[in-house]
Amino acid sequence: MLINADTQREVIVAGERIVLRCIRATDKAALNVFFHGLNPETRYKRFMAYMGELSEPMLRYLTELDPNEHVAIVAIGESGAFVGVTRMVRFATDRSRAEMAIVVGDAHQQRGLGAILVDMLAEAARERGVDTFIAHALSDNVAIRRSLARLGKLCSSTPGVLQVALGAPARVAPAWAKDMHEPAPLSQGRTTH
Ligand SMILES: CC(C)(COP(=O)(O)OP(=O)(O)OC[C@H]1O[C@@H](n2cnc3c(N)ncnc32)[C@H](O)[C@@H]1OP(=O)(O)O)[C@@H](O)C(=O)NCCC(=O)NCCS
Repeated sequence: MLINADTQREVIVAGERIVLRCIRATDKAALNVFFHGLNPETRYKRFMAYMGELSEPMLRYLTELDPNEHVAIVAIGESGAFVGVTRMVRFATDRSRAEMAIVVGDAHQQRGLGAILVDMLAEAARERGVDTFIAHALSDNVAIRRSLARLGKLCSSTPGVLQVALGAPARVAPAWAKDMHEPAPLSQGRTTH
C-alpha cells in the first residue's frame, strides 16, 4: 500500500504509543514547537547549521508537499506532540535518488524510533521508485550512520555525505504494527529503555 496522506500507523516505543503519519499543511505549529524543543546540538546535526527559527517560507516548504516528490513522516507521542520527523526530497535531475533527513526528539532518542522512521521512509521511497538515499551529516554522527546502514550498503565518497542503496526491505523487520484500521494488536518497537 502506498504510504500517503491516509496512512496512519501505531507503534509502541519504550512503552509509549507513537502514531506515524505523513506531515500535513496544518502541522506548522506542531513542527515549530518540536523544532524549538530540540537541543541546539541536535538541531545542528539535523540542519547542519545553527538555526534559531523556522521562517514562514521554511515552514511552508516543510509541511506543504508534493507527495510524489517530497515525503515527510512525523512521529507523534502520547501527549500529541511531535517526537520525530523524517523526510526525503527527490532530486530533480535523478528521481531515483532522494535526499533524506531525520531528527528524533532528544528524550526519545536511542529507543528504536529513528530506525522505525527510517524503515517507513524507505518503504515510501521504494514505492515511488527511489533506490538511493543521500544524507548530509557530520562525519562523527554514528547514530545516522547506523540508522541508514540498516537499509543497505552505506558509502561516503565525499566527507559529510552518506549514500545508501535501498536494497531489499530492512534486515531487521519493521517494528511497526498494522495500519490503524486493521484490528491487530500493536507490536512492540525495539526498545533500549
Ligand atoms: C540519528 C537519529 C535520528 C537516530 O534516532 P534514534 O531514535 O536515536 O535511533 P535508534 O534508537 O533507532 O537507533 C538507530 C541506530 O543508531 C544507533 N544509535 C542511536 N543513537 C546513537 C548514539 N548516540 N551513538 C551511537 N549509536 C547510536 C543505535 O544503536 C541503532 O544502531 P543499530 O541499528 O546498529 O542497533 C537521532 O540520533 C537524531 O535525531 N540525531 C540528531 C539529528 C541527526 O543527526 N540527523 C541526521 C542528519 S539529517
